[in-house]
Amino acid sequence: MEGEFVALVVSERPDGSFERAIASRKLADLPPNETLIRVRYSSLNYKDALSATGHRGVTRHYPHTPGIDAAGEVVESAGARLKPGDEVIVTGYDLGMNTPGGFGQYIRVPAAWVVKRPDGLTLRESMAFGTAGFTAALSVHQLQRHEVTPESGDVLVTGASGGVGSLAVAILSKLGYRVVAATGKAEAHDWLRQLGAQEILSRDDTRDASGKALLKERWAGVVDAVGGDILATAIKATRRGGCVACCGNVASPELHTTVYPFILRGVTLQGIDSATADMPLRTQIWGRLAEEWKPSPAALAAIARDITLGELPPLIDAILQGALRGRVVVAL
Ligand SMILES: NC(=O)c1ccc[n+]([C@@H]2O[C@H](COP(=O)([O-])OP(=O)(O)OC[C@H]3O[C@@H](n4cnc5c(N)ncnc54)[C@H](OP(=O)(O)O)[C@@H]3O)[C@@H](O)[C@H]2O)c1
Repeated sequence: MEGEFVALVVSERPDGSFERAIASRKLADLPPNETLIRVRYSSLNYKDALSATGHRGVTRHYPHTPGIDAAGEVVESAGARLKPGDEVIVTGYDLGMNTPGGFGQYIRVPAAWVVKRPDGLTLRESMAFGTAGFTAALSVHQLQRHEVTPESGDVLVTGASGGVGSLAVAILSKLGYRVVAATGKAEAHDWLRQLGAQEILSRDDTRDASGKALLKERWAGVVDAVGGDILATAIKATRRGGCVACCGNVASPELHTTVYPFILRGVTLQGIDSATADMPLRTQIWGRLAEEWKPSPAALAAIARDITLGELPPLIDAILQGALRGRVVVAL
């Protein structure tokens, strides 16, 4: 029927549990924002799995369509900047949180959230990156801002087989850094080397139980997607003047540390917030991902696989268990 489209809809049952179904939605159900977009691709991020399982810190009201990433064509937009047919990317802000997200064939969002697809990136490639890749790139940007260069020394990437981690490995390697990838998946070692990791550590090797405030200086930079003890250990082993980009909490949101790495080694702990990155920075980062930071076609092909909306539900459970490798692109 006209004005209807297909979406993944998460609903709360009377007993407080949540169910997912592919269902028909109406354009009239979308919020009255300026820009209507026909979504062609989305992607699966950890936050989507939280939204899809009733995590109130991400999504307050159900029924709801998750999907913090979307790429597609503008159908209509108020204002002069966007016109019908423009290919665009929307990631972060409130998309997929309390605004119906990219796991539906249409979204209606504020024009201020919309990035025009840069030349050098297809819509599908933009979702192979998605929020995970944008976050990995923001982390690399922060390492560079803190003067961590390929000459500075090794860069540690934790949660390396995940979305943020695998793209951080690929981007850093493309830029000439010596990347050490930490992973809990023994079967992912060869794959991580293929993406450009020069050395692999097991997850256990990255957790220090000595109780020492400082460890031997090892990392010029760190991209940490996991938090908790692994982040605390990485900070203790970061070299003088180094930078740790903190972007995730799959292991734990807690961080127990002392001030010594900061006051004796001048280490920087840099928070990464992709959802609210301002538009000039957003445009700059997407531009780099389309050009000099873009991993090789072989690396991108190894990282991202394609699925349909109907194939998404079991993968939502897999990402919550830390069991996914790389990225999942959803075709709509
Ligand atoms: N700050 C931001 O703006 C931003 C943006 C995007 C994502 N994030 C956050 O970044 C994190 C990663 O997101 P993602 O989409 O990359 O998720 P993901 O694809 O599931 O990757 C997370 C990886 O972390 C590792 N891991 C999982 N559970 C773990 C545990 N208990 N202890 C240690 N390592 C564990 C696993 O990799 P291995 O098996 O290789 O160790 C897993 O593949 C999430 O916390 C997400 O919310 C933040």
